[in-house]
Amino acid sequence: LASFVSLNPSELSGVARYDLLVGSIQPRPIAFVSTLSPAGIANLAPFSYFMPGGSNPMSLCFSVSGTSGPRKKDTLTNIEATGEFCVNLLVREMANGMNATSFPFDPITSEWPASGFHAAQSILVAPPRVLESPVQLECRLHQVVSHGEGSGSANYVVGEIVMAHVREDLWASETLNGDAFRPISRLGGENYLDTAIPELFHLPRPS
Ligand SMILES: Cc1cc2nc3c(=O)[nH]c(=O)nc-3n(C[C@H](O)[C@H](O)[C@H](O)COP(=O)(O)O)c2cc1C
Repeated sequence: LASFVSLNPSELSGVARYDLLVGSIQPRPIAFVSTLSPAGIANLAPFSYFMPGGSNPMSLCFSVSGTSGPRKKDTLTNIEATGEFCVNLLVREMANGMNATSFPFDPITSEWPASGFHAAQSILVAPPRVLESPVQLECRLHQVVSHGEGSGSANYVVGEIVMAHVREDLWASETLNGDAFRPISRLGGENYLDTAIPELFHLPRPS
């Protein structure tokens, strides 16, 4: 029989808690989030604490970690100020551009030039979407749920999807082609999974 190490989070270092979380809950999809500051500075950043929520209305959630310093991450500041964002899904060709945007640029510097991506105007929200992304979701803020304070705390951004853009070749008969759309995911540490490469297996739900 396997034996286990039982870990009380209150007795672990911050680094150990982070490693345990990202190393165990994986692979995680990545929300590539586009926002605008009230002054109009366009921000882009990836978030892998990310999940779909409901389909009526369509909703999703991602978490922006609190920082040790007084300054929040720009994505959270912008969403709280404007109530709008776009979530763009990522494929392998976008990995380097995505990673470039995770550098802690100051709030007055847009990550768009560093990413090399092109902006497409959204229909219902002001933040632009990422043209290179095969699936782009325009969202309005429903609620921010904060848990904890300071470094490593969670700010769950719950958003309602008000408009979805799917690359034409991926959409047929009211269905997103899951065989063709293969986004990348985040694993533990600095590892990623390209879901286009591993074996794809089908598992019908029990009836
Ligand atoms: C693949 C990837 C996933 C990330 N996921 C998260 C996350 O879920 N939550 C978070 O707070 N930061 C996450 N980060 C770090 C942010 O992207 C980073 O702090 C970024 O600079 C925030 O930008 P902003 O200040 O413009 O919002 C991730 C970084 C990468 C590369």
